[in-house]
Amino acid sequence: MKILICDKTEPEAIQLMRQAGLQVDVCDDISAEQLLQVLPAYDGMVVRSRTKVRAALIDICPNLKVIVRGGVGLDTIDAEYARSKGITVMNTPKASSASVAELAIGYMFALARQTPQTTASMKSGKWEKKKFEGDEIVGKTLGVIGYGNIGYEVVWRALGLGMTVLVYDVRELKLEKIETVTLDELLVRADYITLHLPLTDETRNMIGVAEFARMKTGVRLINCARGGIVDEDALYDAIVSGKVAGAALDVFAQEPSEGHRLFSLEQVIGSPHIGAATREAQGRIGSEVADKLIEFLKASMAQAPV
Ligand SMILES: NC(=O)c1ccc[n+]([C@@H]2O[C@H](COP(=O)([O-])OP(=O)(O)OC[C@H]3O[C@@H](n4cnc5c(N)ncnc54)[C@H](O)[C@@H]3O)[C@@H](O)[C@H]2O)c1
Repeated sequence: MKILICDKTEPEAIQLMRQAGLQVDVCDDISAEQLLQVLPAYDGMVVRSRTKVRAALIDICPNLKVIVRGGVGLDTIDAEYARSKGITVMNTPKASSASVAELAIGYMFALARQTPQTTASMKSGKWEKKKFEGDEIVGKTLGVIGYGNIGYEVVWRALGLGMTVLVYDVRELKLEKIETVTLDELLVRADYITLHLPLTDETRNMIGVAEFARMKTGVRLINCARGGIVDEDALYDAIVSGKVAGAALDVFAQEPSEGHRLFSLEQVIGSPHIGAATREAQGRIGSEVADKLIEFLKASMAQAPV
């Protein structure tokens, strides 16, 4: 079975795949144009968030049997379309949950104490002790939108910090000791709001002008989920008006997003989509990708006519 690795993948994982008998070619900076040329010769592909797998690509690859996405979101793959063509689509749903949750929690502290801004101030040779009065996290209310793998990891950490936690999820949840609320109630009550839900037609721009209007003045927003969930123009206006005191963004509607106008605001801190970029998460993603492909190979061989 021929597999094309289209995005950066742990060398140990590639070695495991080869040892199991998979024929693996690595082209981890392949362009969309090159992919159209070479992918028809492969039975499977490994992608991260960089490589997009759309219907037009799937249509020219009749041999394609399996797509493995190292990571969580399947928004970069026309997964339902692929499945309708008999292609197995898999991802590694829990491998990076702790890493993303830790980034979100870390951002909460960074927003409360403005540590990126104090560092920039110190590096520019200043001593602005009076400028940087912060807030404590203990006793504050955290609104968690989306209680899946990452939301869960955020919630227990926040409870350990002495926060009141409110959860909103589109699924009906029965949780002990955690308050589940409507989206509106969460927006009205939270001091910090963190997003942990997928980007879908339903969630695109879900946090927009009307939602910011419902929030407390001085609220802080953390988005380590997907960029398009927050209306970036509405966020800009909400910060300029003083409604939102700070925002921490790991994800953007357009990525890469060099020179984003939100970063002209001092209240905005962020990172270039690095939620899952820890050694531990990358290791887990690599080994899960390898395990899934090896299982797929074994299942295919078991089904093959003798
Ligand atoms: N920053 C990063 O590097 C990074 C890394 C991994 C994942 N992510 C993002 O984080 C998101 C969450 O990951 P996860 O592993 O927790 O996913 P998950 O599927 O385990 O959980 C998502 C939760 O969102 C809920 N949800 C879906 N639509 C909703 C809606 N309209 N309103 C409220 N809740 C809704 C689901 O019911 C589910 O409980 C992913 O979809 C991905 O976009 C980002």
